[in-house]
Amino acid sequence: MNTKTIKILVTEPMAADGLAQLRSQSGFSLDVNLTLSEEALLDKIPDFDCLLVRSQTKVNKNLIDRGQKLKLIGRAGVGVDNIDINHAQQRNIAVINTPSGNSISAAELAFGLMVSLARKLPFAHQHVQQGLWDRGSFKGLELYKKTLGIIGFGNVGQHLYKRAKAFDMQVLVFDPLIKAQDGIEIVSLEEVLKRSDFLSLHCALNDQTRNIINQHSMSLLKKGAILINTARGELIEDEALIAGLDNGQLAFAALDVFRNEPPAKNNPLLHHPRIMVTPHLGASTEEAQIRVSNLLAQETIAFFNGEKVKRVV
Ligand code: 3PG
Repeated sequence: MNTKTIKILVTEPMAADGLAQLRSQSGFSLDVNLTLSEEALLDKIPDFDCLLVRSQTKVNKNLIDRGQKLKLIGRAGVGVDNIDINHAQQRNIAVINTPSGNSISAAELAFGLMVSLARKLPFAHQHVQQGLWDRGSFKGLELYKKTLGIIGFGNVGQHLYKRAKAFDMQVLVFDPLIKAQDGIEIVSLEEVLKRSDFLSLHCALNDQTRNIINQHSMSLLKKGAILINTARGELIEDEALIAGLDNGQLAFAALDVFRNEPPAKNNPLLHHPRIMVTPHLGASTEEAQIRVSNLLAQETIAFFNGEKVKRVV
C-alpha cells in the first residue's frame, strides 16, 4: 500500500456500505460532496487521486485535465458515456465501472414500464385523480404472445429476455456484438423494428448507436408499437419520436432517460399525452445501489493496492 493518503472525491449519491468500506481503509480519505457546481468541481479536482461518479457528473476533457493527480475514475453503474474515456486513457487514468451491479434493477424497470404502458396505467392514474371514471378509455393489451424486441443484449437485455419469456412473450434480439445462441432469435435491426409489438433499448451509447431510433427506423416500426427507453436519451431522435407518436406509428413511449438530464421543463417529451416519463430510475433500487457501491469500493481498494481490477473500461 502506498504510504501517501489517497484522496477520493465522490460527487453523486452512493450507498453507505461501499463508502464505509473506503472510509475504513487506512491511508484513504473520502470527500463526499453531492452539491458541487461544474466550476466548484473544477476547482476541487486538482487535490484528488480518485473520482467516483454515477451518470450525472460530466467527466469531460477539461475536468480530466484539471485533475493533475487523478489515477482512477470509478463509475458506480454501467454507462460510461459521461466520461471521456479516450482522454482519460491518454492521461493514463484508469476508468472502472460495475456493470453487473444494477442490471436486474434496470431490467425490472423496463419490464415495469412495458406493463404500465400495455395497461395505460400512468394515464388511467391521472384520469382517476381528476375524478373521472371512464373505464372504456383504458382498455389495454396483454403481453402474452406479443413480440418484444430487445436492442442490445448485454446484462440488462438478457435479464429482460428471461422476464419476458416467463410472461410467454416471443422475444427478438438485435445486437451486432453477439454470436448465435441456442434458442435465442437474433435478427437484423430492420427485422426487430418491423416485427416488435414492444421495443426496449438496452445498448450502450456510442457512435454506432446514437440516434438508432430515427425517422427511418420509426417508419419501419410495426404500427401501434410501444417503445421503452431506459438506456440513454441520445439513442432516440426526439423529433422522430414525437412525429412517430403523432402519426400513429407508435402507440406509446416510456422514457427513463433524456438527451440532457434533467430535461428542460419545456421539453416537449415531458408534455406529450402518450409519453410516460421517469427521472433515470433504472438503477435506483436499494439492492442495486448497495451492490454497485460495494463493487466499486472493492475495485477502488484493489486498484490503489496495486492488485488486479476486474472492470477496467
Ligand atoms: C447506468 O448506466 O448504470 C444507469 O444508467 C444508472 O445510472 P445512475 O447510476 O446515474 O443511476
